[in-house]
Amino acid sequence: MYYEPGNTDHGLPFNPFKSCVVPRPIGWISTLDANGVANLAPYSQFQNITFDPPIVMFSANQDIHGERKDTTVHAEREGSFVWNMATYDLREAVNLTAQSLPRGQDEFAHAGLEKAPSRLVRPWRVAASPVQFECEYLQTVRLPGNPPMGTVDVVFGRVVAIHIADDAITDGKLDIARIKPLARLGYFDYTYVDKTFTMRVPNAGNGGGMEGSPEKVAEAALAKAARA
Ligand SMILES: Cc1cc2nc3c(=O)[nH]c(=O)nc-3n(C[C@H](O)[C@H](O)[C@H](O)COP(=O)(O)O)c2cc1C
Repeated sequence: MYYEPGNTDHGLPFNPFKSCVVPRPIGWISTLDANGVANLAPYSQFQNITFDPPIVMFSANQDIHGERKDTTVHAEREGSFVWNMATYDLREAVNLTAQSLPRGQDEFAHAGLEKAPSRLVRPWRVAASPVQFECEYLQTVRLPGNPPMGTVDVVFGRVVAIHIADDAITDGKLDIARIKPLARLGYFDYTYVDKTFTMRVPNAGNGGGMEGSPEKVAEAALAKAARA
């Protein structure tokens, strides 16, 4: 089948677009409102975009009333946000934090989640989440779209502190099969990662870029300069 979004009909009972880019990691983003009340919401339009320094982004559509999402407004005003890894075990809490609550209601309390303080930024961390990034707000790129929800705020943040639970690490690596990170599919479907395999790019040196290791990238650059 073939269709042109906005021009021709896909002809299917459900729109297939979101199901084509899968699985999407969930940016479970915590922020503070102007009165310091904790806000927490899942954003599956989320990614890391570079590693030196580490930068992440989430993409917040406007709501059904054409209003900007609270997470965007808070991140911009406060200058920070925290990313919490969503896991299969935390799925029900993740879902509860997607509810639209009256302003001023603590979304950690709503989802029965314990808070952990951050070190470098003010928004709370989800204590039960195995990995959290403290992020300094960088900028928002606002892309116009169709009303009411199409216009989107793509919010970028620099990761300034990383917390990883000790029991989420086995033999020096994040134990993905144990953590079971939660991910979005299309429709109302989700998955979680519990299977991994390893593959290296042939003749790609020490693979610093693939590993996301600035130290190894610098090492490879030095080795290349020494050979030249
Ligand atoms: C798993 C999941 C992923 C979501 N991803 C997004 C997303 O990428 N962008 C978005 O605008 N809304 C997304 N939502 C909806 C928001 O979480 C929801 O609108 C929330 O109330 C926003 O809260 P806020 O206004 O406090 O930021 C998602 C919801 C769920 C359950």
